[in-house]
Amino acid sequence: MIDIQEILFDEQTIIEKVRDMAVRISKDYAGKEVVLISILKGAAVFTADLMRHISIPVMVDYVQAASYGASTTSSRNIVIKKDIETDISGRHVLLVDTIIDTGSTMDYLIKKIREKRPASLRTVALLDKRSRRQVDVPIDYPGFTIPDRFVVGYGLDCKEQYRNLPSIAVVAKPA
Ligand code: IMP
Ligand code: MG
Repeated sequence: MIDIQEILFDEQTIIEKVRDMAVRISKDYAGKEVVLISILKGAAVFTADLMRHISIPVMVDYVQAASYGASTTSSRNIVIKKDIETDISGRHVLLVDTIIDTGSTMDYLIKKIREKRPASLRTVALLDKRSRRQVDVPIDYPGFTIPDRFVVGYGLDCKEQYRNLPSIAVVAKPA
């Protein structure tokens, strides 16, 4: 059993922020269509809420990355475990993750998605653990900045547990 130490953001606080982010996106892309690329597994819950609050036409696809090596180094080896199926060339793409930590995953995926020649590419992240950043990645649509604590819930796991928690909570950092 993993210890929940503190609730950082409750359900209501999260959904208000997600709605704000969706409104900003809808305004910025008014008259256009966007393709959301959701980074599995962690962004599944966030993406489901975000897309339901976006008022312009939206397509969604999923990518899954796997990383090998120490999670604390930027030299981590990242590979794509499941690629997108949508043809995104000439489309407006938003890469969606729930949390940016070292930035390596997002940085790698930005490069891979760019190779597919989208008309534009921006990033969305609900949580920004900025003090941990090793790779400087842009977050065009940021949610909350959080301290260097290990969080679970709202899609985020600790050893695959707690993804279903409706709030975002701090747990003791796993070994
Ligand atoms: P990065 O490549 O170091 O930015 O790591 C990004 C990924 O690490 C996220 O998509 C999450 O899957 C995972 N991650 C980073 N910090 C946390 C956390 O506090 N809780 C749960 N997962 C995390
Ligand atoms: Mg995880």
